Amino acid sequence: KPYVLGIDIGGTNTVFGIVDARGVVLASSSIKTQKHADFDDYLDELHTEVIRLLEANDALDKILGIGIGAPNANYYTGTIEGKVNLPWPSPLPLAQIVSEKFGIPVAITNDANAAAIGEMTYGAARGLRDFIMITLGTGVGSGIVINGQLVYGHDGFAGELGHTIIRRNNGRLCGCGRTGCLEAYCSATGVARTAREFLEIREDESLLRELPIDAITSKDVYDAAIKGDKLAKEIFEYTGNILGEAFADFTVFSSPEAIILFGGLAKSGDLLMRPLRESMEKNMLHIFKGKVKVIPSELKEADAAVLGASALGWEAGKANSAPN
Ligand code: BGC
Ligand code: NA
Ligand code: ZN
Repeated sequence: KPYVLGIDIGGTNTVFGIVDARGVVLASSSIKTQKHADFDDYLDELHTEVIRLLEANDALDKILGIGIGAPNANYYTGTIEGKVNLPWPSPLPLAQIVSEKFGIPVAITNDANAAAIGEMTYGAARGLRDFIMITLGTGVGSGIVINGQLVYGHDGFAGELGHTIIRRNNGRLCGCGRTGCLEAYCSATGVARTAREFLEIREDESLLRELPIDAITSKDVYDAAIKGDKLAKEIFEYTGNILGEAFADFTVFSSPEAIILFGGLAKSGDLLMRPLRESMEKNMLHIFKGKVKVIPSELKEADAAVLGASALGWEAGKANSAPN
């Protein structure tokens, strides 16, 4: 039985899985992305771990193609361009390099596009023709689907909604070099920055004050909020408000039926969803009010992007094995 390999390269973790023709993930594993500033070292570890996983599952000779989702990836050219959230040189001809290393055809796309494909094929977006996938992880990514098709745009980079500017004045510096991007506020790292800001300018008590301020993560904020910590809950309000404003803006571009959230923060439940939905409705253009659903991914963490990437793996495998 043939399989494909789906790989989701995130700013923090790289997750990969062996996927069958029905979209079932047989086995998956992960490595740390940021551990290797040197790309060759990263590729060596990825190769070793993937081969280990394939051998353990008796799939070594059964992989038809590899699909990869990665930040700043270009579907048309197979390259990663720009260094946001990844430490390697740019441009990086990732599809070609991985294909040579594994001896298997490779296709790549943006990680959030991969999540959109996964959600469209196997998850919450099944049957939707117009939706926006938003991934809230180390960065903020997006995949825009219009009329049932993922939008790539002229250059192949369409849908970088994490880098829309949501603060014109005194905006935070973003990893992309601009100031005021959505990502600088609403990614996992953005939420941690909000926490540090709040702790510095405010006096009120918080469980977060028990942690070393530079080490605070979005997970810490979540844990504190769940325990009822007022400041932590306000951090979620702040984040939800900004996301709601941004989603109202995104809506005017493509009139989505739904906006689907994926990534660690998307699992924060009402802590994030309530302020987000309220703010989105408050800021929504009148003709769209009450019409756009915001829903969390129906696929387990990482599976949306691994599954979406695996769909590209079939494409890559076909292109290779069936010359016409
Ligand atoms: C990158 C996107 C990516 C997102 C999530 C952003 O900083 O620009 O390409 O999809 O992070 O990884
Ligand atoms: Na995208
Ligand atoms: Zn940016």
